Amino acid sequence: MEKSVIWITGASSGIGEAAAKKFSNEGFQVIISARNTQALERVKSACSLPSEVFVLRLDLEEIDTFEDKVKEAIAHFGKVDILLHNGGISQRSLIRETPLDVDRKLMEVNFFGTIALTKAILPHFISRNSGHFAVISSLVGKFGSPFRSSYAASKHALHGFFDTLRAEHFQENITVTMICPGFIRTNVSMNALTADGTALGQMDEAQQKGMSPEACAEELFSAIIRKKEEVNIGGKETLAVLVKRFFPGIFSKIIKKAKVR
Ligand SMILES: NC(=O)c1ccc[n+]([C@@H]2O[C@H](COP(=O)([O-])OP(=O)(O)OC[C@H]3O[C@@H](n4cnc5c(N)ncnc54)[C@H](OP(=O)(O)O)[C@@H]3O)[C@@H](O)[C@H]2O)c1
Repeated sequence: MEKSVIWITGASSGIGEAAAKKFSNEGFQVIISARNTQALERVKSACSLPSEVFVLRLDLEEIDTFEDKVKEAIAHFGKVDILLHNGGISQRSLIRETPLDVDRKLMEVNFFGTIALTKAILPHFISRNSGHFAVISSLVGKFGSPFRSSYAASKHALHGFFDTLRAEHFQENITVTMICPGFIRTNVSMNALTADGTALGQMDEAQQKGMSPEACAEELFSAIIRKKEEVNIGGKETLAVLVKRFFPGIFSKIIKKAKVR
């Protein structure tokens, strides 16, 4: 039987790495992308079947390269069935101290990089009358939180874009799963941008106590296979989505005091 092919961005660490291992373990052919090729080679070797894993370096800020990257990705295994948009960077800075170039960088990587790659592969999905976009958003794609202004904005923007894509392309059997993780124990806070544009370099307590990336990968695998439209993944912090929806006044009070740094 023909194997399914998944392309995962941000696969050099954290959630993307765990997802690459999970999909490889489940018999998928896997294309792994990020900037750090040494880390990608390490992930490839740690997968169940390294010969069925293709390392394709990709920088989400270099959108001019995407047409060629998509060609390379399709050529390697003959097709792409699923694109898991996972690459991204977080933020740890207040609005009043953050210069616009930091806001722009967050939008470039998390939003424009993601939608540019989507537009580059969309003709392939349309021509095959099939394709699935799985998009790692965040709980802060569902509500705003202190210290995350443009990070939250970039993730909210992904919901607007991909909800639209789902509605525009359902007749070509193109589907979308929005994945909203809470606190997952990765390097996300270490790599998060501070006001001067450098990485925070510290593990947040919330991340430290969060769900393991492997447990997150199990849940996102199940959501993608079932083609769920949206899923929240994490611990009790995921309840915040329900509180915001049904008790917005209470949510507003809680988020002002949330310990998110
Ligand atoms: N951990 C959490 O609690 C949490 C919660 C909600 C959402 N998320 C989201 O989950 C996704 C994965 O993050 P993570 O938690 O696994 O953190 P992570 O360990 O820092 O991983 C981030 C990944 O994104 C890649 N990346 C960053 N900038 C890139 C760029 N310009 N071009 C290409 N790839 C880039 C990194 O690879 P290179 O540095 O090698 O390029 C890395 O593989 C992100 O979208 C993040 O926003 C995480």
